[in-house]
Amino acid sequence: MMPVTETERAAAEAANQREQWEGEAATSHLLRPGELDLSHNVILYLEDITVSFDGFRALNQLSLTIDAGELRCVIGPNGAGKTTMMDVITGKTRPDAGQAFFGQTMDLTRMSEPQIAHAGIGRKFQKPTIFERHTAFENLELAMKADKRVRRSLFASLMDDERDRIAEVLRRIRLDAHADREAGLLSHGQKQWLEIGMLLMQEPKLLLLDEPVAGMTDEETERTAELFVSLAGEHSLMVVEHDMAFVEALGGKVTVLSEGSVLAEGALATVQDDPRVIEVYLGR
Ligand SMILES: Nc1ncnc2c1ncn2[C@@H]1O[C@H](COP(=O)(O)OP(=O)(O)OP(=O)(O)O)[C@@H](O)[C@H]1O
Ligand SMILES: [Mg+2]
Repeated sequence: MMPVTETERAAAEAANQREQWEGEAATSHLLRPGELDLSHNVILYLEDITVSFDGFRALNQLSLTIDAGELRCVIGPNGAGKTTMMDVITGKTRPDAGQAFFGQTMDLTRMSEPQIAHAGIGRKFQKPTIFERHTAFENLELAMKADKRVRRSLFASLMDDERDRIAEVLRRIRLDAHADREAGLLSHGQKQWLEIGMLLMQEPKLLLLDEPVAGMTDEETERTAELFVSLAGEHSLMVVEHDMAFVEALGGKVTVLSEGSVLAEGALATVQDDPRVIEVYLGR
């Protein structure tokens, strides 16, 4: 079936990329940089990261650490460098200087985008990438790791454990009642959840979510906060958001970025009282 809508085109692109990345993952020994080492309870370690675009420092000696299982929010004004930071973590942008480690041993600055994805860092972009004319269930099936899909083709139908896994993810993203619904007919919020479900099918250790509740209703935003809180522990999450009610509902530690560096960090109530944070962000 040829993709027709913009969303479907994006989905096809994402699926192709996954396929290609996993193909590379299967053939390259470089893609096996070892197990994720969480022995110091740190899943992400950024130190003095600098990224320049034509002399402009989008990131300026940025240092930040995320613990295993942590749910971290990142806030800050437009242009502060939040998305650029995610680009560095996923290997899309190479830093000019600084260190970036996934666990104790994986040097993200020396890994390719496919290696990083394969190692367990999943990213959700704002643009949805779902197959609109496939059901919610089928979308999750398509997102399953390729090695599992190869195994499936040998047995013609889904294995029980795979069905169970898809059912479990559907429950988590509150789409169990909509499993057989065409994805294109879901609400905006449900489509976003479906995409998060597709990420979860890849079993990432660290999830990066850039403005995940943009365009959602208040109700959907609340449900999304519950979902993220339930994912923490088993996964680590880094969530960039401008919606303060959402950030408050997540309840985790908050990092405030400004001009490419960390301006403040701590509980939301604490950073909200920080005069420097009020000056650059909250007071406007
Ligand atoms: N590829 C690029 N080339 C040149 N400049 C860039 C590039 N990517 C980002 N920038 C610039 O770097 C700065 C940081 O951008 P970034 O997108 O990381 O900010 P942000 O914190 O995500 O902002 P927002 O809240 O608006 O999403 C901005 O000034 C932006 O214009
Ligand atoms: Mg951004």
